Amino acid sequence: MQTLPHSVSKAVSIEDLRLIAKRRLPTCIFDFYDGGAEDEITLLSNIQRFREISLLPRILRSVHRIDTTRHLLGSEIKVPFAVAPTGALGFGRHGADLSLAKAAAEQGTIYTLSSSATTSIEQIARHAQGRQWFQAYILKDKDFFYKLIDRAYAADFEGLMITVDLPVGGKRERDNKNSFSIPFKLSPSVALDFLSKPAFLSSLLSKGMPVLENMVGLEGETRSVNHIASSVGRNYDASFNWDDLKRVRDYWHRKLIVKGVLHPSDAIRLIELGVDAVVVSNHGGRQLDTAVATLDALPGVVKAVDKRIAVLMDGGIRRGSDIFKAIALGADAVLTGRATLFGAISGGDSGALHAMNILKEELVRTMQLSGVTELAEISKDFLFLKQGLV
Ligand SMILES: Cc1cc2nc3c(=O)[nH]c(=O)nc-3n(C[C@H](O)[C@H](O)[C@H](O)COP(=O)(O)O)c2cc1C
Repeated sequence: MQTLPHSVSKAVSIEDLRLIAKRRLPTCIFDFYDGGAEDEITLLSNIQRFREISLLPRILRSVHRIDTTRHLLGSEIKVPFAVAPTGALGFGRHGADLSLAKAAAEQGTIYTLSSSATTSIEQIARHAQGRQWFQAYILKDKDFFYKLIDRAYAADFEGLMITVDLPVGGKRERDNKNSFSIPFKLSPSVALDFLSKPAFLSSLLSKGMPVLENMVGLEGETRSVNHIASSVGRNYDASFNWDDLKRVRDYWHRKLIVKGVLHPSDAIRLIELGVDAVVVSNHGGRQLDTAVATLDALPGVVKAVDKRIAVLMDGGIRRGSDIFKAIALGADAVLTGRATLFGAISGGDSGALHAMNILKEELVRTMQLSGVTELAEISKDFLFLKQGLV
């Protein structure tokens, strides 16, 4: 059995940070972050496919100096990973969104604020530096939706990310079993779960219940996070289509990124529509279970895009070597979801930064041990691709 480090700063891997979060949180909250849809086949295969691909290193190539910078959508990032949008983080730790935004700025990379975040667009803009993107789901209430992206524009967010893999919510059975459902009910089992983590409970009570700040006002809902969450669920626009996305493209004059692309033909159509980047993503296995692992979908999208726009990917990134493999298969950069989320939830500002440092240090080491000194050198040539894999 793995022994747990006593403090976040002693965590040596993303898995350590995950286990610290697990120890800290009530099960229903940990499972909300950790879990996926139905049998969690996609959630697990996102991770597993990275493990199945072996590296094929080169030797004697003078790797004492390593450069991890990358040009992405207009300017440089210091590491080839950015923070993926993740909602409802305030349930796990007060201020976790801001911790991630500040850590991303310190790391020299991009932070993406979820429209379901527990910190507002304006708070992030006020308290964190660095490059920032805003992620939105398409809501039925178009006035509210466009006002939301107006706010992101006014707050100088440089990119708008539209997530397109959530016309309806996925079936997340851990949440159902834990009664972490929408609308939220304080059942006896949830109450017991919270009482089993007194330190967490007292911090939650002293800071107050988190609120999905950017959704306040949607259909006149109250400020209760659970009511708002349920209203967001009801307000996703399942009829959203290519024409609606075109309207968003015409409206938003900065970088537009579309997240949740798996099929090469969709990527081609998005280029024709004028988007600036696609994110190969299955929402971390939280939506359509048995959807293809993102590492398997990546090469097809990369080929179809043919360097015309940027290709990002997420899902299953837990090691620096995962980032290396995604780049080898043609990603310009990756987004980190749970990997950095667990850092922020387990240790706030320093935990978020620690997670990013772990990933960066592992990436640098992987590059050195593989015999490359800069990202542009990383290619399929450094992967041992068995028949039938990738
Ligand atoms: C707790 C949680 C909340 C999420 N919230 C959002 C969200 O609000 N918007 C979105 O586009 N994706 C959301 N995602 C998906 C992530 O952006 C990302 O696609 C996914 O976490 C990548 O998989 P990984 O966690 O295995 O790295 C969420 C993921 C998690 C784990």
